[in-house]
Amino acid sequence: MPTVEYVNFEVLEDHGWEMDDDDLFEKAAAAGLGDEDYGELEVARGEYILEAAEAQGFAWPFSCRAGACANCAAIVKEGEINMDMQQILSTEEVEDRNVRLTCIGSPETDEVKIVYNAKHLDYLQNRVI
Ligand code: FES
Repeated sequence: MPTVEYVNFEVLEDHGWEMDDDDLFEKAAAAGLGDEDYGELEVARGEYILEAAEAQGFAWPFSCRAGACANCAAIVKEGEINMDMQQILSTEEVEDRNVRLTCIGSPETDEVKIVYNAKHLDYLQNRVI
């Protein structure tokens, strides 16, 4: 089953880390963070990442659960996530900034690394509801 390694966007700010840091996940792994902020999820292909996180007892952000807001947004740092039809992100955000919606996103590769809680990014704020 694919593994999704995750780190909470809010932790980046707390530690002064940048989204583009090459060793972001190594730093997160070594920082002694709790499961809420850093860890790994097993997510079946076809299963939505948000639902897998909730099944593990995590309260990741969401609102519409249907690809129509940016509340559940995550940034893919490694691997690939397939999304169902969405109408809220621009092509540039998906292809260049690697934004994905976890409520309609499922792993395509065996290993995926994401920064979840990415709704706090400035350019997504106008679509958070
Ligand atoms: S919760 Fe609205 S797009 Fe995922």
